[in-house]
Amino acid sequence: MKDNKGKLAVLVGGQYGSEGKGAISAHIAPRFRYHVRVGSPNAGHTFYDAQGNKHVMQTIPCGWINRQAMIVIGRGALINIRLLKQEIEHIKLFDPRIEDRLLIDSQAGVLDERFFREEGGVNGEMHRRIGSTGEGVGPARVARINRDPEKFSLFGDIARNVSLDHLVFDNTPALLANVQDAGDNVLIEGTQGSALSLFHSFWPYCTSTDTNASGIIAETGVAPSRVTDVILVLRTYPIRVAGNSGPMKNETTWQAISEKCGREITEKTTVTKKTRRVAEWDGDLVKQSILLNAPTAFALTFCDYVDPDLFECDSHVKLVQSEKLRAFLDASGLERDRIKYFGTGPHHVLDFDSTEG
Ligand code: GTP
Ligand code: MG
Repeated sequence: MKDNKGKLAVLVGGQYGSEGKGAISAHIAPRFRYHVRVGSPNAGHTFYDAQGNKHVMQTIPCGWINRQAMIVIGRGALINIRLLKQEIEHIKLFDPRIEDRLLIDSQAGVLDERFFREEGGVNGEMHRRIGSTGEGVGPARVARINRDPEKFSLFGDIARNVSLDHLVFDNTPALLANVQDAGDNVLIEGTQGSALSLFHSFWPYCTSTDTNASGIIAETGVAPSRVTDVILVLRTYPIRVAGNSGPMKNETTWQAISEKCGREITEKTTVTKKTRRVAEWDGDLVKQSILLNAPTAFALTFCDYVDPDLFECDSHVKLVQSEKLRAFLDASGLERDRIKYFGTGPHHVLDFDSTEG
């Protein structure tokens, strides 16, 4: 490998998902020439662009917002063709040339609508039993593991039938290695959160893959020694999806948080509008996700839940001077200097990354 090789960063959720990875990914997008996503559409990443337009991405990495970047969907991904087409159409409103810079690995999997019907969404048994979104991702992965071509297709095999063959790309691992060696920076955008991992969480209240940095890179085909940065995204108050979604230490209520914060706060899921479960900071959980991911930097989102005066704050000085945030950080055990990004609202990330221009 050459000495001047580029960065290869992995963005990971440090709790139960919805940490705001979308907002962080979009914020740092200009620094990366390649943006990669794997995972599946049971994760939705939301961000707002500089003009205030909202973007919800379930398939395409948020880094598309950097018009100079190449956008890659890797081998471990599961793609719902209908959603992919919808996302392409959405992006075309902002960048008509998106298809010229979008590459989809021929070995990515197809999330056929049959799998959704099998699980039944939030009205299905899996939702009742473990709080799953029930989108069929588990059954699709099972079909892939069973190596049953009757039930599971690779993207490259069906791309022509769905008029997407112009996007097919054959060797993401080689592409990413080559561009890194040539000095380009690569960002791999993880989905969900460390504590939803199939292997490293509260089985069976988990998702159907490993959501930690090593699992994410395995899905892309990037070799572990190529990773230069792991950014762990943490929320001030972790959430779990509504329903029977499993253990969550220090569980509290939105009412209690609102009273403490002095501002009305509540979160509902996008599709079902059910109120999410929420908890106070859980240091043990964070310790475990630090152990599993060995982050080189942190992003702390939802700082506006700690101090209402920080809501959509874009002043570094004001953030640093917030007594409430300082008290929170002291109690959290996080090292202040290692937090490079602070989320203060859906529209704002404050950047303390001195290594960047
Ligand atoms: P998953 O992979 O699905 O877990 O997604 P994610 O980590 O990208 O999070 P997602 O975008 O699904 O959810 C975060 C939500 O909170 C979105 O609606 C964001 O617009 C919003 N958000 C992100 N950062 C902040 C923040 O700092 N403060 C507030 N109030 N909202 C935020
Ligand atoms: Mg989400």
